[in-house]
Amino acid sequence: MDSDSLLEFYQTRHFNPVPIALDTDEKWQLQLAKRRNLYQRHLGIPLALLKGQPVIEFGCNSGENALVLAHAGARLTLVEPNDQVLPRLRTLFEHFHLGRQITALHNQDLNSFSSSETYSLVVAEGFLYTLPNREELLGKLVRLITPGGLMTMTFNDRYGGFIELTKRLVLFRACELGGIDPESPESLALAERLFGEDLAKVNASRPLEAWWKDMLVCPFYSAAYLWSYLELFPLFDQLGCGIHSTSPRWSLLDHYRWYKDVARTRAEHHQALLAEFRRAFPFFLTGRPSSGGPASETVIGAVAALTDQISAYSIGAASARDITQVSYPQPLEDYLCTSADPTLRALGDDFGAVYRALAGSNLQELAGAYQAADCLRSHWGTPCHYISAVRHPIGESAWDG
Ligand SMILES: C[S@@+](CC[C@H](N)C(=O)[O-])C[C@H]1O[C@@H](n2cnc3c(N)ncnc32)[C@H](O)[C@@H]1O
Repeated sequence: MDSDSLLEFYQTRHFNPVPIALDTDEKWQLQLAKRRNLYQRHLGIPLALLKGQPVIEFGCNSGENALVLAHAGARLTLVEPNDQVLPRLRTLFEHFHLGRQITALHNQDLNSFSSSETYSLVVAEGFLYTLPNREELLGKLVRLITPGGLMTMTFNDRYGGFIELTKRLVLFRACELGGIDPESPESLALAERLFGEDLAKVNASRPLEAWWKDMLVCPFYSAAYLWSYLELFPLFDQLGCGIHSTSPRWSLLDHYRWYKDVARTRAEHHQALLAEFRRAFPFFLTGRPSSGGPASETVIGAVAALTDQISAYSIGAASARDITQVSYPQPLEDYLCTSADPTLRALGDDFGAVYRALAGSNLQELAGAYQAADCLRSHWGTPCHYISAVRHPIGESAWDG
């Protein structure tokens, strides 16, 4: 890997990973609508409550999302280590007459930032999961939250990313068979031929080139940088935080329940969440609601193992690539192909055909198998998840949160 960090990856390529255009009123209104929907409806944070409140955002990039918080009246501390994006950030805040909402702008990373202040809302979207000391840094973020306040973070989900990782594997294997460098313009052209038509049908904010660079060939889209609710829920618990909400929302634990029903112990609650996760597993995989049954721990473990194999294949030197080390697991095949949900069965058939072609050594056959895999082509999983968490007020037991 020629970059040690996500930051270096962006800087050496002069790459703005989230190029959100705000040059017309229509685009600004759409950005406001998307972020309101995310914060208010999904993450349970009414933006009006942020008026006059101290909010800190790490990794704000060129500030397109921070602008929405400023527009809601938050007093912003912005921390962004990539100086290449700061001129655009300043121009945007001036253009929208929101510069006065910025209390401080630090050209620093989360590791080096220090402050004795606390904030009503701490935001860390799009980078935390790539850092080697991410658990320790999550603790640092939590300590910056005023007790009773909130944080939001994103992570790339190990299971939600499985379909995209399979697409990544198809591209890397096609590049290997075609003698193409995965980071070259020829690889981008190949990605356009394989995925362009399908991506154009998705309500995606990003053009194909940004998706290719930031997901398909980015070394930070691999197993070491993936996370999961199975790891994060206990971690937040240890840090004295309750999970406030998620986006996408997938847990039905609090649905159809009376609010006075608080008798469950934390251990029971944890078990119930794990059962919810297994129930929602088909949604994680596909990105669509599903009538498929819950996944067993064996199936979940098999997907995690395959994501490790895809990662080992797609990072590091081309000469070390060994497709025989990537094998489609029987428990996953059985789970999908015997499902009551026809979409899961179709997906199981597509995975079977594509993984067989991946194991072969004929580029045309691989491209043909992928072209014929309609269900796989039209699904994108749930690669990126948001969590909002609340720091328990002092004196309040974690369970009360
Ligand atoms: C994928 S972009 C996300 C931008 C924006 N937060 C969003 O979600 O749309 C990741 C951002 O995190 C920044 N970043 C990378 N490493 C960081 C670190 N250690 N501390 C703070 N920010 C970091 C990058 O410079 C970049 O602006």
